[in-house]
This record gives sequence, C-alpha cells and structure tokens, in this order.
Amino acid sequence: MRKNKKSKNWFIKKNKDHFFKQSKIQGFRSRSAFKLIEIDKKFKLIKQNSLLLDLGSSPGGWSQVARKQITNGKLLAIDIKPMERINNVNFIEGDFRKKEIQEKIMLYFNSKIDVVLSDMAANTSGNKDLDTYNTGQLCLDAMTLSTKVLREEGVFVSKMFMGSIYNEINEKSKKCFKKVVKFKPLSSKKESKEIYIFCKGVLKI
Ligand SMILES: C[S@@+](CC[C@H](N)C(=O)[O-])C[C@H]1O[C@@H](n2cnc3c(N)ncnc32)[C@H](O)[C@@H]1O
Repeated sequence: MRKNKKSKNWFIKKNKDHFFKQSKIQGFRSRSAFKLIEIDKKFKLIKQNSLLLDLGSSPGGWSQVARKQITNGKLLAIDIKPMERINNVNFIEGDFRKKEIQEKIMLYFNSKIDVVLSDMAANTSGNKDLDTYNTGQLCLDAMTLSTKVLREEGVFVSKMFMGSIYNEINEKSKKCFKKVVKFKPLSSKKESKEIYIFCKGVLKI
C-alpha cells in the first residue's frame, strides 16, 4: 500500500474512532448522535418546547440528543426495529409509511408540529445503487409526510445519499419548502455519500 493511501486510511479510522469513542464516553447509543448535534448547532432547529418526530430512530442516538433539549415539548420516535426506552420519548415500532402508523402520529401530537427528522436508511442489499435509491425513496416519503404534519414554519431534516435519486429529492424539496440547504456534518464519514438536507417553511402546493 502506498504511503499516502496508508495515512489516509489511518486518518479515516482515527476519525471514526474519535466519534465512536465519544459516543461511548457521553452515553450516546450511536455515533450518529454527533451528526444531529452538528446539524442543530448550524440550523438551531430544536427548541425547549419543540414538537418533534424522529423517523428511523433506533437505536436512539438522535432521540437522546433531541430529548436533552426538549424539556417542555413532545418527542415521538418511530422505527421498524425495536428501540430501548428513553425517558420522555414516546416510541412506536412500525413502518412510518403505513397508514395506521401515520394515523398514530397525528393522534399523538393532535396538532401541527415543529420538526421532522429522518435518519432513515434502507437495509443494505449489497448493491450500493439500489441502497442509495431506496434510502432516497425513504427521504421522499418522509418529505411528503412532513408537508402534511409540519406547521407553516416547520423544519424537515433528512439523510440522503448522493446518487441517481438526488435530482428528484432536490426538485421536490424546492417545490415543497421555502428554504433548502444541503449539509455534510464532520461526523459523517468522508468516504460516505451521505449528506443531510435541511428544509424550512412548508409551501402550499
Ligand atoms: C442509521 S439508523 C438511525 C440511527 C438513529 N438516528 C440513531 O441516532 O440512533 C436508520 C434506521 O432507519 C430505520 N428505518 C428504515 N426504514 C424505515 C421505515 N420505513 N420506517 C421506520 N424506520 C425505518 C432502520 O430500521 C434503522 O434503525
């Protein structure tokens, strides 16, 4: 292996270790927690009284981060996988795309909400293009739900991967929201095509 390739791998590993170690030290269930910390530092989306929906919440890192700040609001987490209990976080196990799950979401908040987060990723299939597409589709479906549940100045943040479905996500986000910004947190691995899309202000279409 060439020297600069070796040192690049070393740097990536060290970086990964840093966030992994920090997640253990700080008691977060995932290193992803740091992505939401960075996103929130930049966009200031989570407030004390936020009504917040966390899609694809398991094992719970993002819910832990959001919970620390929401002292007087409501936090609902959804995942197809189980999630260990977090104090003051309501959890529903199921696919958010199902009608009955979406009805439960509406019933739980009983009003328009402030923030929809989605860190959802499709199951890996071994085919990267297919995984990118499927995760992008989850982002599009979460965006559709967001336009229904968010208040006028509400915020939608979602994971997506750069790839074939990027243009579709870009176009839809601009049709649905007043402001759209793409952001790659430092804690998101450099070699990953993962980025986050921040959307604010639901447009009536
Ligand atoms: C990267 S993990 C989320 C990590 C989480 N943000 C954290 O900090 O712990 C992605 C999650 O999306 C969930 N997911 C994928 N498709 C879903 C769907 N249709 N409905 C709900 N959750 C889904 C997966 O089960 C997985 O737990």
